[in-house]
Amino acid sequence: MSSQDQETRQGGTIILTGANGSVGLAAAEHLLKSYPQYHFVFTVRDAADTDPNTRKLRDLISNYPHAKSKASVHQVDLADLSAVHEFALAISSSVATGRYPRIRSIICNAAYRDLIHDSELTVDGYDKTIQVSFVAHVALVLRLLDSLAEGGRVVLFSSNPRLRSITVVAINPGGIGDSRVFTTRTPRFVQLMQTFVLVPLMPLIRLADPTFRTSAEAAIDVIELAVGDAHSGERGYFTMLLKDDSDPVTMEKEIQDIVWRMSLEWAKVMKDDTGLQGGMEPF
Ligand SMILES: NC(=O)c1ccc[n+]([C@@H]2O[C@H](COP(=O)([O-])OP(=O)(O)OC[C@H]3O[C@@H](n4cnc5c(N)ncnc54)[C@H](OP(=O)(O)O)[C@@H]3O)[C@@H](O)[C@H]2O)c1
Repeated sequence: MSSQDQETRQGGTIILTGANGSVGLAAAEHLLKSYPQYHFVFTVRDAADTDPNTRKLRDLISNYPHAKSKASVHQVDLADLSAVHEFALAISSSVATGRYPRIRSIICNAAYRDLIHDSELTVDGYDKTIQVSFVAHVALVLRLLDSLAEGGRVVLFSSNPRLRSITVVAINPGGIGDSRVFTTRTPRFVQLMQTFVLVPLMPLIRLADPTFRTSAEAAIDVIELAVGDAHSGERGYFTMLLKDDSDPVTMEKEIQDIVWRMSLEWAKVMKDDTGLQGGMEPF
């Protein structure tokens, strides 16, 4: 392990998007409890105290007095790419001036889905689910590459790219029975299913599907992969903490090239915006 790697493990910055979500809150708690040496940049869509989930995040932080000067909550609406670029610029400037230590991990946890309404377009003109869950994270990660430490890690919830000394991992966190994904923008029967089937019968369902579990269990794996020793230095795709194969379609070179090229275009990332100069040549 290099000295810079060791230094970062003793106190880098962790960025967690969707920090007030089901996995996000549990992940924030595990970080605050088990990794007090880090600085935490928690991002949420709505940082106002009137947002009940943000309120929970702030209450959680206040339970850890050591985090008072080390944990901050930032409003970043991932459905607005200008907000994402602005945030990334503010963080990279803070790292450059030494206000934040170099980034140990970017955890791309936020996601959006709506099972009731038709597809919704963002101000950038993209489908909201694709932009929040994917395109905005592409912009965020590429913008912050130069602020990542040696041995830093990017945790995605899909796909499988590779970057210099930084490792990129994708995790399938499992089926998360108690997630509010089942109660937000879902039909009534899905909400009832969570209350009367998924949560109370979780131990039984787990017999048939061992990946079915709580957000707290999923969050611990996400954080151990992001900042702990789990699979340190490895790349690739994981189901929970087990090395796995991602969908074969994601391994097709032609498809990877198309997705990469389109991602750069959608994320509005130019050559000068990222440290990944080698990947920016036209195809
Ligand atoms: N739940 C599952 O069974 C499951 C299965 C496989 C993978 N996953 C993945 O696991 C991760 C965590 O899922 P979860 O169950 O914790 O989901 P969740 O409870 O629905 O949390 C999603 C988070 O994303 C945030 N978000 C949504 N739109 C946003 C926007 N425009 N800008 C910024 N943030 C936004 C939400 O904030 P607001 O609510 O304030 O908008 C919330 O904090 C996701 O990446 C998901 O795809 C989940």
